Amino acid sequence: MASTFGAVQLAHEFLAAQVKPGDICIDCTAGRGNDTVFLCSLVGDKGKVFSFDIQQEAVESTLKLVKERGFSQTAEVICRGHEEVDLYAEEGTVAAAVFNLGWLPGGDHSVHTQAGTTIKSIEKCLRLLKYGGVISLSIYYGRDTGFEEKEAVLEYISKLPTAEYTVIVSEFVNRPNCPPIAVRIYKC
Ligand SMILES: C[S@@+](CC[C@H](N)C(=O)[O-])C[C@H]1O[C@@H](n2cnc3c(N)ncnc32)[C@H](O)[C@@H]1O
Repeated sequence: MASTFGAVQLAHEFLAAQVKPGDICIDCTAGRGNDTVFLCSLVGDKGKVFSFDIQQEAVESTLKLVKERGFSQTAEVICRGHEEVDLYAEEGTVAAAVFNLGWLPGGDHSVHTQAGTTIKSIEKCLRLLKYGGVISLSIYYGRDTGFEEKEAVLEYISKLPTAEYTVIVSEFVNRPNCPPIAVRIYKC
């Protein structure tokens, strides 16, 4: 296995196994658009991907990548907080929601996801998921940011009711310096 294998690959393998053509998906943290275009490739022409970011720079990056890859009809990129995700999709209709927590790669490190809004959005995404739907969370933390969010998110997901959700947390236990944590949530 390549030494660069990381949280993004884990998340994409998981999503590829779950998302089908025609599905509705949500990218809760658009950033540079990599997860958005990956989801677009899975849902195909008949599917839909709603992609959120609070930073105009991220929205523009994502729109550029979406256009380059020919997914303009599939992706709707929205400059809005993911805590308002329920304004865009109906309950019980979403196949997958993706969170890639932290800051915009190559962007302003002072703007990053926050525990309160992240948990509010996860809570809403759980309601939007159809049965059999999934959430992928890649939790990045380190230096002086993300620790509080990591703790709060892990505590929140560990208390989700067993009868309704299966929650799996994967860690790169032999890597130094706060490696990312990959979370999979299945709605039963
Ligand atoms: C680690 S980056 C995402 C990387 C992205 N998935 C990619 O493929 O490049 C996290 C992003 O979350 C965004 N963000 C922070 N708070 C947010 C919020 N409340 N709603 C939506 N996006 C938010 C940041 O602006 C940043 O672009």
